[in-house]
Amino acid sequence: MSAFLDACRCQPTAYTPIWIMRQAGRYLPEYRKLRSQVDFVTLTRTPDLAAEVTLQPLRRYELDAGILFSDIMTPLQGMGIELKFEPGPVVHEPIRTDAQIDALPVLVPERDVPYVLDAVRLVRANAPRGVPLIGFAGAPFTLFCYLVCGRPSKEFAAARAYLYAHPDSAQRLLSHLADAMAAYLTAQAAAGAQALMIFESWAGLLAAKEFQRFALPAVERTVQALRGIGVPIIYYANQGSALMEAVAQLDVAVVGVDWRTPLAATRRTLGPTKAVQGNLDPAALFASPLQLRREADAVLTEAGSAPGHIFNLGHGIWQDTDPDAVARLIDHVHEKSARG
Ligand code: CP3
Repeated sequence: MSAFLDACRCQPTAYTPIWIMRQAGRYLPEYRKLRSQVDFVTLTRTPDLAAEVTLQPLRRYELDAGILFSDIMTPLQGMGIELKFEPGPVVHEPIRTDAQIDALPVLVPERDVPYVLDAVRLVRANAPRGVPLIGFAGAPFTLFCYLVCGRPSKEFAAARAYLYAHPDSAQRLLSHLADAMAAYLTAQAAAGAQALMIFESWAGLLAAKEFQRFALPAVERTVQALRGIGVPIIYYANQGSALMEAVAQLDVAVVGVDWRTPLAATRRTLGPTKAVQGNLDPAALFASPLQLRREADAVLTEAGSAPGHIFNLGHGIWQDTDPDAVARLIDHVHEKSARG
């Protein structure tokens, strides 16, 4: 019995489940303590530590789901792509040529990233209250942005220019990433992940036309490869409000949206068989306690009473957030949404 998994399937739940993007991370003192002794990459490659960091927020709060502590770039590092976290990912040799694309190895998760799968197993064995675990991957286009640009950026100009300058090469790279992430997500589910989330953090860079031409077919390829896997798939489209009609075509159980994307209209576009996840502004956690409750109520009202809403922030929690505000938000969402 899990309110989170039921909501993913648009089943009625006793209350609206809630979890928080980037819930395992720097706003938590217990994370900062561990992180002061161990660098980020070591955390992601040491199953005991990755599992410990994943479990930290689940011990502190009545969250309805956990998310594996890792990074969207971790499987690419496992494929032999060299990068550093500063703290955002910086790729040593950005991908710009066909020869580099042809040379990309195939990802074999059990061989290349065994530590991720061991972390999944450890979390499953130790999750408090039987909280379900979400595994995740970056969406092909979002990974493409980092690989082609080489570093975080507002515009990802080099990546967007590449779509126009070399559309066929871009498609090949996207397909390769789509297959790699399909293998990666399949392996996480086999290791015990009970839901899978695909992060399209840079969806908002694209107009609907380019999204339909490049990003959507690539993630569709990943999603099709996961058909029949039996765990719900969540597609998070950051700044995707202009893309929801296209996203509605994707065969996923849940669509996650940011705080600029109106939930009620999104639900109408997605229809009754897709659940939605979101979408409180991470900045709202800096409001007074009363105002934070009002902001949370507004999200619940926008989501409406039909089954299939998972409460979350619209994007990752900010590192200077007060951990007590998170506790108040979770309790309030549970109380306010309780259906007798
Ligand atoms: O609780 C969780 O959500 C699990 C952990 C998680 C991390 N990264 C840990 C992390 C998840 C789900 C991610 C996904 C991720 N990584 C995304 C998609 C989600 C999103 O925010 O849109 C993206 C775009 C990345 C790429 C990335 N990794 C960036 C931009 C950064 C730097 C910015 C930042 O938040 O610090 C990272 C590094 C990173 N990933 C850190 C953490 C905790 C910081 C490393 C540190 O402790 O110094």
